[in-house]
Amino acid sequence: MTFWIAVGSLCAICGILAVLLVIADRYLNDYGICKLIINKGAREEEVEGGSTLLNSLNSTGIFIPSACGGQGSCGLCKLKVTAGAPPILPTEEPHLSKEERADNVRLCCQLKVHENMELEIPEELFNIREFNGTVESLENLNHDIKRLRIALPAGEELDIIPGQYMQIETPAYKKTPEPVYRAYSIATDPRDKTHIDLVIRLVPGGICTTYVFEHMKEQQTLALNGPYGDFRLTDTGKEMIFIAGGSGMAPFLSMLAHIQNEGITRNVTYFFGARSKRDLICLDKMAAFEAALPNFKFVPCLSEPMPDDNWDGETGLVTEVMKRHCPDLTEMEAYLCGSPGMCDASVAALTANGMPAENIFFDKF
Ligand SMILES: Cc1cc2nc3c(=O)[nH]c(=O)nc-3n(C[C@H](O)[C@H](O)[C@H](O)COP(=O)(O)OP(=O)(O)OC[C@H]3O[C@@H](n4cnc5c(N)ncnc54)[C@H](O)[C@@H]3O)c2cc1C
Ligand code: FES
Repeated sequence: MTFWIAVGSLCAICGILAVLLVIADRYLNDYGICKLIINKGAREEEVEGGSTLLNSLNSTGIFIPSACGGQGSCGLCKLKVTAGAPPILPTEEPHLSKEERADNVRLCCQLKVHENMELEIPEELFNIREFNGTVESLENLNHDIKRLRIALPAGEELDIIPGQYMQIETPAYKKTPEPVYRAYSIATDPRDKTHIDLVIRLVPGGICTTYVFEHMKEQQTLALNGPYGDFRLTDTGKEMIFIAGGSGMAPFLSMLAHIQNEGITRNVTYFFGARSKRDLICLDKMAAFEAALPNFKFVPCLSEPMPDDNWDGETGLVTEVMKRHCPDLTEMEAYLCGSPGMCDASVAALTANGMPAENIFFDKF
């Protein structure tokens, strides 16, 4: 009992100290207005000092990929900061290689602006746009996946490359005191420039997905920005394998629409891994693609079919099914989308059957 009281007291003291430090940093340290000198002075912005570089840039309309919402876990918010940055922080260390450190690369969600800063931003990031969209529909695809269709504001259009993602803003609610951004792959037919479709799986306890599943309403406004990312189809003409289960299907919906729109005749086999029949999604959509694309095959694989699934399709792990179907992968390409574990297992299976590592492209999430 005494032990737990001591632990509780210690935690409470640490919590109070952390809050005091944040308050002190915010109100006692007045860093004033700081200049962000971008790309050797090609652009200059003035921001209120004291905020992270990521938030400071956002406030000037410059959006940097930040799929983890600034938590320091995705490693996507890297920028070169050549002057005005403090030494590398412990939270940045795991994400920076030796070469990146030598090259002044930093995680801009961890770095705070305390003085004028000089930084380099790749030109393509200036094309990232922010919208206040409208949730047009919110549809259950299965027991834990929803499709979210967002209409862009009237008169606005967005060109996307299939495979890219958007970041949506979860407003402050009981799980988060301030808005947070999360990344979602775009599932839209790229010909539709006025909507963004997302396929979102519920992560129990997750900030954004709980909001989407429990609080989001049709017709509400939703802030989003993008498009981001370089996961995309090559133009090599090689036969392709897609591997993804659950909401990992999102970018492939966009890619298959593109393949159909452009009359691309490359062979594509999509291996979709699920536990049982209740986890499958978009079967009608996949059947429509098979009917429209003679060189496309959809292979759903169940690892633990239930007795009343009456499943006569492929069973086993998606990687094992893929290996059985494709014994020689030397001349093919693969596109993977899903958890790091699924992507790593797929890379191992693909390379074991002869696929060169440079022919494998993935989006891990
Ligand atoms: C480039 C990119 C594209 C993405 N595209 C999609 C997409 O199309 N559809 C989609 O559903 N998701 C996608 N994600 C994942 C998405 O961005 C969120 O990470 C996810 O929805 C969880 O957000 P959250 O705020 O609900 O959970 P958080 O509040 O961030 O997390 C809550 C807890 O759950 C854990 N957690 C986070 N993510 C997962 C996970 N996937 N599985 C299990 N535990 C997790 C965290 O470690 C944390 O402990 C993508 C991610 C990236 C980086
Ligand atoms: S935003 Fe994810 S690490 Fe910085």
